[in-house]
Amino acid sequence: MADLDDIQDMTENKKKKRGSAKNFPTAPSVSELNLEWGMANRLSRIIKPESGRTVMLAVDHGYFQGAAKGLEELDRTVGPLLPHADALMPTRGGLRYNITPFSNTPIVLRASGGNSILGELSDEDIAVSMEDAIRLNASAVAISVYIGAEHQHRTLMALTKLVDEGMRYGIPVLAVTAVGKNLGKGAKYLSLASRICAEMGAQFVKTYYCEGFETVVRNCPVPIVMAGGKRVPEPDALKLTSNAIKRGAAGVDMGRNIFQAADPVAMIQAVKAVVHQDYSPRKALTMYEDLKADNKRKTKRRRK
Ligand code: R5P
Repeated sequence: MADLDDIQDMTENKKKKRGSAKNFPTAPSVSELNLEWGMANRLSRIIKPESGRTVMLAVDHGYFQGAAKGLEELDRTVGPLLPHADALMPTRGGLRYNITPFSNTPIVLRASGGNSILGELSDEDIAVSMEDAIRLNASAVAISVYIGAEHQHRTLMALTKLVDEGMRYGIPVLAVTAVGKNLGKGAKYLSLASRICAEMGAQFVKTYYCEGFETVVRNCPVPIVMAGGKRVPEPDALKLTSNAIKRGAAGVDMGRNIFQAADPVAMIQAVKAVVHQDYSPRKALTMYEDLKADNKRKTKRRRK
């Protein structure tokens, strides 16, 4: 067994994977992962080959939070956003009961659960069979992994089981890291958590933005999508997105910062401009304000 003292401080790992401006790494492309055909095809429905990036809309909060603010009526929230999202991340109940099947937006299906905000968050396991994920035509499945928490071992073993099943059917697995109050949110912890998930076989990883995010990207051999987190003012959310993209994120998996925004449809379009077209936060904010004003005018006209 490796001596714990030998575990290197990953924030000091200066090895460069891919160069870009300011020596920030760039996200590995889907083709670089050498995946089998079906898996590569599914993953490239989510991470767009033209930009190597994605804007995933996370609406899976209900699996442990119940009716989260903004998702009380999932269909009404998701409906107008769906055409703008590169992928949607719902639970299977949320999908079946609220989302039209006549949409081309790929689904990243939340496949873990068993916990709630009233108990220990890491008390989670696989909660959807691969058979049902395939029945729902999921392009990928998502599972939370709680590194350093009470149920670390179980959630890591659940990840490996899901990866094995995904390999059997060509379904990529998204490992969601660092959800939980008492877990670290710094580069050292996020590097450790993301790298472990990739080593255990996840084809892509969702984690938070942090100071030194480029190190997290450098230390992870698979694409990382930035988790949105708690709602912040729109200018801050756009800045966060831009910072993550510059430092090598393959996009975002964002929920509250989109559907709780003053104008969610304008917000998802502004986030997309940052992610796919490298808009600066300022330019994206102008776009957001213009779209918001436009939408307001249209609603007023409709009411007349
Ligand atoms: C966390 O485990 C879940 O995936 C969330 O329910 C969701 O994805 C969070 O999205 P956001 O923090 O951007 O609202």
